[in-house]
Amino acid sequence: MTSRQEAEELVTLAREYYVSGFGRDSGFYGKPGSIIETADGHYAIDIYGNRLFDTETCASACYLGFGHPEVMEALKTEMARMPSTTPLFVPTAPLLRLGEKLASISPGDLKYSLFSANGTDATEGALKIARQYWKALGKGGKYKVLHRVPGDYHGMSLAMISASGHTFRRSPYEPLMAGFVSFNAPHCYRCPVEKSLPDCQLFCARELETVIRFEDPDTIACVITENTNTGLGIVPPPSGYMRTIRDICTKYGVLLIADEIITGVAKSGYWFESEKHGIVPDMLCIGKSISAGCGALAVTHVSEQVGRVLAESGNLHHGFTYGGLGYLAAAGLAGIAYIENHDLLSRAQEIEGIMRARLGTLASQSPVVGDVRMTGTIQGVELVSDKTTKSRFADPREVAAFVSEVGREHEVLLNCQFPQYGNIITMYLPLTITDAELDLVYHSIEDVVQRIEQRYL
Ligand SMILES: Cc1ncc(COP(=O)(O)O)c(C=O)c1O
Repeated sequence: MTSRQEAEELVTLAREYYVSGFGRDSGFYGKPGSIIETADGHYAIDIYGNRLFDTETCASACYLGFGHPEVMEALKTEMARMPSTTPLFVPTAPLLRLGEKLASISPGDLKYSLFSANGTDATEGALKIARQYWKALGKGGKYKVLHRVPGDYHGMSLAMISASGHTFRRSPYEPLMAGFVSFNAPHCYRCPVEKSLPDCQLFCARELETVIRFEDPDTIACVITENTNTGLGIVPPPSGYMRTIRDICTKYGVLLIADEIITGVAKSGYWFESEKHGIVPDMLCIGKSISAGCGALAVTHVSEQVGRVLAESGNLHHGFTYGGLGYLAAAGLAGIAYIENHDLLSRAQEIEGIMRARLGTLASQSPVVGDVRMTGTIQGVELVSDKTTKSRFADPREVAAFVSEVGREHEVLLNCQFPQYGNIITMYLPLTITDAELDLVYHSIEDVVQRIEQRYL
């Protein structure tokens, strides 16, 4: 265990030498949960010895919790065999077997896997492939990327912030890249065009057609989108939305890229959320949990048609020194096998059902729970200061800090992320969460809600 003196030294080091890529200032360090000593199963243990149930699992990467025994065993075995990257960037057996497995669990004719390291590599790879695909077919004028705003986060590179919908992540780096065009993301609770279902007849999806026609389909390479807009605080698309987007892309000869870096691999209750919404994208981006949270591994998974055109057109240039480490693939395969052997797809759906019922009741009773949204184990609770007007709290950062503080009293790490969009408690629960732990999480949120009512109303 970290001694008090060492803990103080570490806080000083964090304040003196460490730069956060997630916008945290030095005042953050020193709070419970701000520097982690270790993590064990569903719990994070910080340098002060606090043992906190983690509802965030690194935005779903550790979907079986931390250090899952079967995953660790697979990781260690493969590390003993091939402990590094390979000579000449060639693959190892686990990577090839993971590629085969993905082809069997992904929807439709998605087949080929381009491995890389981070999710950002996978999404940017998809954009590069889209442009190369159209060039190979003699349509090099199709280069534009259409993407949704706000929310829809696709990564941190200059290209991927150009394709993302977080103003706070875009504005410090402007001017952004040319050739990126945005359209409105759906948000039934806060509709950007102030319409509502069913009368709107999915205006938000049909708007894409207007944008494509205005921009000229002959200039558009692809649409990139999350299914559930995790970047906006867990906003699932309305029923039929993704199918309409798919149909419009097909009609105008535009490739559809589904970013399932977060939602991919079982967490939605389906292997991939695209399946839940009845679509087959042309490319599927997978990251985070594809290594069961053990390290940087990501995939741009493409359809038979896209893969064939690329193969015929010559070389693809999107490879990385550490893009496809075999031991990470072995860990990922062990994670997938564990899901299959324990029917965790059904469990993810069950977890959604349990929490939807409990949080739904809480929302109907509390004046500060504006909306409850979820897809499987990925869940969001939006807190508002006035339910009628849906007003946000005057100081969302202070409310977010209070939510975390109350959570910690229950020994639960609660994240109320994106104060830019208000206060949304955002959870990526492990697929292996027990019923007792679901109780713990629910009761911590119930207490948060009551204390917010007392403090802010
Ligand atoms: C939906 C989505 N796409 C892309 C990324 C980028 O992944 P990475 O952080 O591995 O580069 C993330 C990361 O959180 C994400 O949530």
